[in-house]
Amino acid sequence: MREHGAGGEVRTYEASGPGAVEPGASGPGGVTPGASRLVARALTLAYEDRTVVDGLDLAVPDGRVSVIVGPNACGKSTTLRALGRLLRPKGGSVLLDGAELAKIPTRRIARAIGLLPQSPSAPEAITVADLVARGRQPHQRWWQQWSDDDERAVTDAMARTDVTALADRPVDELSGGQRQRVWIAMALAQETELLLLDEPTTFLDIAHQVEVLDLVRRLNHERARTVVIVLHDLNQAARYADHLIAMKAGRIVAEGPPGEVVTAELVREVFGLAAVVIPDPVTGSPLVVPGMPYRPESGF
Ligand SMILES: Nc1ncnc2c1ncn2[C@@H]1O[C@H](COP(=O)(O)OP(=O)(O)OP(=O)(O)O)[C@@H](O)[C@H]1O
Ligand SMILES: [Mg+2]
Repeated sequence: MREHGAGGEVRTYEASGPGAVEPGASGPGGVTPGASRLVARALTLAYEDRTVVDGLDLAVPDGRVSVIVGPNACGKSTTLRALGRLLRPKGGSVLLDGAELAKIPTRRIARAIGLLPQSPSAPEAITVADLVARGRQPHQRWWQQWSDDDERAVTDAMARTDVTALADRPVDELSGGQRQRVWIAMALAQETELLLLDEPTTFLDIAHQVEVLDLVRRLNHERARTVVIVLHDLNQAARYADHLIAMKAGRIVAEGPPGEVVTAELVREVFGLAAVVIPDPVTGSPLVVPGMPYRPESGF
């Protein structure tokens, strides 16, 4: 383990150091110790015998917005799916309130963790309203299929994501961006304290990207939701994250406040990209301006 960054508060981890991060521990600028309902311990994830994530330790800070960044295929979605129990660990564990996910009844997990996967697929010909309503399934009982709470949650989620006018349209006839907002509505309708969103801004125009990320922030602020988002846009990540997690090749390379994690050195290390990092003129958060593409002989 070593440190870099102006404040020296960023924890960075050598690629060969599984277990270097202590779950629940925090650096000086990090999270409150112990305040993590969702924790990954020495998490190893594999498809068949190909290991994708290797010995990853992560304590998701409660009540904060965490953003995972990293190059394509580094294991972001795989990690998120394991945090939402869509994927069973090959090694290590994911704990929710101290209990292994594998040992918690599915319905209880679904009431605690909402997960929007990267490429969700809708049942054929389902309408927007019906798909969003599926987010309520974990809350329903055999004796009460649909309650006022369900109705309120669905109406609220559709309004917040600006899809109310699409309610009766079949999901498979929507544009990519409209469809993405419907999926977000479904995740919101689930009304979970923990929300895991895999690239929720894909397909969205810039105004809707900002709207969705502002919505996430608002949910976090007003309803104390804990959110983990995978984003590709480093500048949006730096703007919206309380806690930024940079992954590379199945490991966490650095995590902490964006102002300290996002440095030119980190961008080069993680993405192999030469960049200049300047303060965002609007927010003051780090703004990554890519320079020349990285080449070994360029001396960067
Ligand atoms: N269902 C699967 N079966 C086999 N291999 C998979 C499967 N899903 C992902 N992988 C592989 O696991 C690795 C990590 O994939 P993952 O989807 O976690 O990456 P990612 O960081 O989310 O990338 P992206 O930014 O492109 O979404 C990749 O090499 C990918 O090919
Ligand atoms: Mg992905």
